[in-house]
Amino acid sequence: MHKRTVLQTALALGLIGASGLAVAQDNVFKIGLILPMTGPQATTGRQIEAAARLYMQQNGDTVAGKKVKLIVKDDTSLPDMTRRLAQELIVNDKVNVIAGMGITPSALAVAPLATQSKTPLVVMAAATSSITQASPYIVRTSFTLPQASVALADWAPRNGIKKVVTLVSDYGPGIDAEKFFKERLQFNGGQVVEALRVPLRSPDFAPFLQKVRDLKPDALFVFVPSGAGAAVMKQFGERGMDKAGIKLIGTGDVTDDDQLNDMGDVALNVVTSHHYSAAHPSAANKKFVDAFGKANKGLRPNFMAVGGYDGMRVIYEAARKTGGKGDGTALLEAMKGQLFESPRGPMFIDAQTRDVVHNIYLRKVERNKDGQLWNVEFDVIKDVKDPGKTK
Ligand code: PHB
Repeated sequence: MHKRTVLQTALALGLIGASGLAVAQDNVFKIGLILPMTGPQATTGRQIEAAARLYMQQNGDTVAGKKVKLIVKDDTSLPDMTRRLAQELIVNDKVNVIAGMGITPSALAVAPLATQSKTPLVVMAAATSSITQASPYIVRTSFTLPQASVALADWAPRNGIKKVVTLVSDYGPGIDAEKFFKERLQFNGGQVVEALRVPLRSPDFAPFLQKVRDLKPDALFVFVPSGAGAAVMKQFGERGMDKAGIKLIGTGDVTDDDQLNDMGDVALNVVTSHHYSAAHPSAANKKFVDAFGKANKGLRPNFMAVGGYDGMRVIYEAARKTGGKGDGTALLEAMKGQLFESPRGPMFIDAQTRDVVHNIYLRKVERNKDGQLWNVEFDVIKDVKDPGKTK
């Protein structure tokens, strides 16, 4: 009798989905996933959405007795749009968690809304160090540029690279990469002879690369966001920089697994530092890469996909620990301190900073027996906290 009343009420309120599944609003756990699905960062959106759906396929679409509803919105990587969509998701859809954030300005635009509404914001892509300080409701599952840059600045001078030109996208993550790479290289006895910044939108690398050629450094250190690496690599090759004896090094964003295999021989031997390679030799990663490929017509997951996959893990686990109650502050607390094996390796959400602690790997691009290009890991720095947090 009571059940029928609930069902009738739900029907009257239009809470029962078109799928015919009799799930009232009350029994749904909602995740608002805001991503760039179109525009220059579209590959980030495609990778993260695919990873989130794979996680749900593997772990079920119920958690703590609630039906999980993933609501995906395209912000075209315009921060004003990200903010508007987040507002709608929080106010109208009453989501339990906001997630995604393809670029730093999007994460920063949503941070105040997360704080005001006490909604956890799981940052799966954006990687400027300061993001986690923009709201106490932010938890990050991607990485930070200082983590990756410092590791490379330790490796470079030990490997004959002393004189470096840096080339970064002119916004948060690029400025972080430039600063932390430069400081650490100098500390290690090397020198950044020129620091070049290119616009985030429609960058033309040609004039910058010409300048680099003239300066003749041992290496060019590059940070460009996921999706832009192939263009840098192409122009680097076309200008014969590698033949002029200038090495290309960078954070792993430049040899992004989403694009790497199409970059051709110019990418061979490029050394980068990052938290994830699709070639990471663990059973958990092999399983992830295989399942991701099967579900997405052979697509190789990149570091964005892993940020999305692990972000879903953090959300599911928090929902489970809190018995599906869905209270924002309780969920946030349950996200802090999670420790688990990610496809990237061991991963930890530092309860103090709400930021990710993980291994940073040094990798070199190699063509494997399968004829494909991979970021092959050859060294590891374990359990790296964000160096940006101590400054
Ligand atoms: C960012 O905007 O924070 C960002 C985007 C893409 C990356 C790294 C950082 O590959």
